[in-house]
Amino acid sequence: MASPSDRKAEPRLVALRGGEGVRPAVGRVTLVGAGPGDPDLLTVKALKALQAADVLVHDGLVSGEILDLAPQARRIDVAKRKSRHTLPQDDINQLLVALAREGLEVVRLKGGDPFLFGRGGEELSACREAGIDCTVVPGVTAALAASAGAGAPLTHRGNAQAVTFVTGHAAHGEPDLDWTALARPNQTVVVYMGVSTAGFIAERLTAAGRAGSTPALVVENASRADERRILTTLAGLATATEGLKGPALLMVGEAMAMAEIPTISGQVPGSVATAAVFEVQNVSSGQ
Ligand SMILES: C[S@@+](CC[C@H](N)C(=O)[O-])C[C@H]1O[C@@H](n2cnc3c(N)ncnc32)[C@H](O)[C@@H]1O
Repeated sequence: MASPSDRKAEPRLVALRGGEGVRPAVGRVTLVGAGPGDPDLLTVKALKALQAADVLVHDGLVSGEILDLAPQARRIDVAKRKSRHTLPQDDINQLLVALAREGLEVVRLKGGDPFLFGRGGEELSACREAGIDCTVVPGVTAALAASAGAGAPLTHRGNAQAVTFVTGHAAHGEPDLDWTALARPNQTVVVYMGVSTAGFIAERLTAAGRAGSTPALVVENASRADERRILTTLAGLATATEGLKGPALLMVGEAMAMAEIPTISGQVPGSVATAAVFEVQNVSSGQ
């Protein structure tokens, strides 16, 4: 693995863009969290990284508005949606290394936070193994945006003493989680990638002792103009997720009862021309 001092010893410089300047022989990779979609939720550090990028390697959860903040950068879409991987993870790792070896400032732009269900750790390891400098800029993870938008705190004195982020999708299908621990009351369980397994998750949590009447909030497209919020119960979780198309979170816990669900469907208070939808479903159908 090349150390920083090895790289200093290399006198080779690569000139790009005919005379605009010279670049180091080896560039670097920055894993940048793009947040949940709203460009206003980008960090200042993420914005600076975007503005300094030669190339953006991004996935499908990053909005066009955010990509447009780096008009100078070449874009490479490695869009990853469950069951529609355009580029396998190993190829993405190799791509990042290869671009950095061309002397480029590579920004790997990922939805939310790179280290929360974002496979950022694998990309960081690949860079480290190849001797490429790699740093990480954190992003606002979807759960924080969903909770803030709804006014439903993830922890809340008295009824949510802990919060756990879990995945609803395992490499080979349904997740193998510690259901007994997750079923304890007075905690919030946030499920990422859980829409297709919502029924299974609700069934496991209930079987492990979590009351079917526990409030549950489903948030699709959190922080975006077409955000959709459905307040339901654990017992109603599977029904509430039917027909969802965008990225969505399942948030189960007593504090989710605080979620704001405006009575006027189709309107976000204080905003104009939005497609956001808010619903209350099955709240009284718990056990
Ligand atoms: C591969 S994970 C990436 C999570 C991301 N790294 C983060 O920190 O938010 C994709 C899942 O994140 C959740 N997600 C991402 N963006 C979202 C959004 N704007 N609204 C709701 N859920 C979102 C969904 O559960 C989606 O299936």
